[in-house]
Amino acid sequence: MSVLFKGGTIVSTTGRYVADVYTEGDKIKTIGTDLDVPADEVIDAKRKYILPGAIDPHTHIAMPFMGTHAQDDYETGTIAAACGGVTSLIDFDLQQKGETLLEALERKQALADGKVAIDYSLHPAVMDPRPEVIEEVKKACLEYGTPSFKIFMVYDFRVDDATMIRLLEETKKYGGLVQVHAENVYIIQHLNEVLAKQGKLAPYYHAKSRPNIAEEEAIARAAKMVELTGSRIYIVHLSSLEGLRQVKAAQDRGVQVFAETCPQYLLLDEERYKEPDFNGAKYVMSPPLRTQASNDALWRGLKDRSVQVVATDHCPFDFNGKKDMFGKDDYKKIPNGAPGIETLLMLMHSEGVVKGRISLERMVDVLSTGTARMFGLKDKGEILVGKDADIVVFDPDQKFTITQPKLHMNIDYTPFEGIEVTGMPSAVYSRGKKVSQWNGDQMEFVGEIGRGKFVKREPSES
Ligand code: URP
Ligand code: ZN
Ligand code: ZN
Repeated sequence: MSVLFKGGTIVSTTGRYVADVYTEGDKIKTIGTDLDVPADEVIDAKRKYILPGAIDPHTHIAMPFMGTHAQDDYETGTIAAACGGVTSLIDFDLQQKGETLLEALERKQALADGKVAIDYSLHPAVMDPRPEVIEEVKKACLEYGTPSFKIFMVYDFRVDDATMIRLLEETKKYGGLVQVHAENVYIIQHLNEVLAKQGKLAPYYHAKSRPNIAEEEAIARAAKMVELTGSRIYIVHLSSLEGLRQVKAAQDRGVQVFAETCPQYLLLDEERYKEPDFNGAKYVMSPPLRTQASNDALWRGLKDRSVQVVATDHCPFDFNGKKDMFGKDDYKKIPNGAPGIETLLMLMHSEGVVKGRISLERMVDVLSTGTARMFGLKDKGEILVGKDADIVVFDPDQKFTITQPKLHMNIDYTPFEGIEVTGMPSAVYSRGKKVSQWNGDQMEFVGEIGRGKFVKREPSES
């Protein structure tokens, strides 16, 4: 299968230029002007951008959580991804008690293989940090192709600081990366008790129970562990101005603290929790939505490069039947998480680039090129000869109003309902094969279930 994209504007992290792109099989074969080669498919890409497919390094597909499961499986989740211009995802793989990391990886690969429509990888989440599991970090980095390790500082399955230190030391030896959900569990437990005594149990108090200071303290502490060990850390779903201050403070000291944020922390704020009829539950996620001051600070962090990646934390639970199942009378029982994989690129382009908050080139960096580099996806993230032909033909003028019935995620709402975006994919290619296209009204999936594959990632050389 070969495709010739004619006359599009190729966008990289450093600039843009008009050229033709020829792909053959899985790969980008040639880039040049006026390419005259026969191809199975010729695409007129004039006045369109040629973008590397977005990479979402933070998803929770089919994850068991808070008495239920995140609803997308690998089929529905990757169809939605493809329709949004996401051509690779890295999913969290929560180690069960007694499992090795390899067993955890094989368990999730068995669910994914044959079902994924785009390429994927996995981050093992270390939840049973037995000595032999810490030792297995070497193999995960050098053999399994999964050199990033998630830890939680909150939830029942959190790890303690001693485990964090051991993991940091071990990942440092083999070019691994520790990813941290950073919130101070004791602040949250204390505020949960205070709020319960006051009878404050509506969704809004979810935000009040997890204040910015809880994120700030946890990031500061994690950064100190990095300083101690000389290792590297990646803060997932950074949400607050105060948390960002700690990230920057560490970076200014030369400590390798990287950060990811998500569209919800850039675009939505805690007022959402006040929506009537329990609708505030739709936004119950951890960390919670903050205020405009944090939204603005995070946009600045993307622009000044203190935040390196935008991901989604895609973790969908239906409003009807899941969010309201246990949590009607207590925010603590509402499953934490929200959908987002399909709306990532359209929101970052429309709210970020079109509104002048970040450049188009920076968008490519935080959604594709920088993400591929951060997580060792060496064949992904750039429109370059030899790279995988993961390509989004993007129409920067196409309007679309985000609404749940026109999306493909397996859930009954989107937190971004009603936002009108400017700019949508015209067509999305995964390793040279079209997986989705604009049909004049919405995106439609045209790919093949099971064509996606597990991609081994490389450890960092630094
Ligand atoms: O609320 C969230 N973020 N749910 C998914 C699990 C996590 O903490 O990332
Ligand atoms: Zn988290
Ligand atoms: Zn998450």
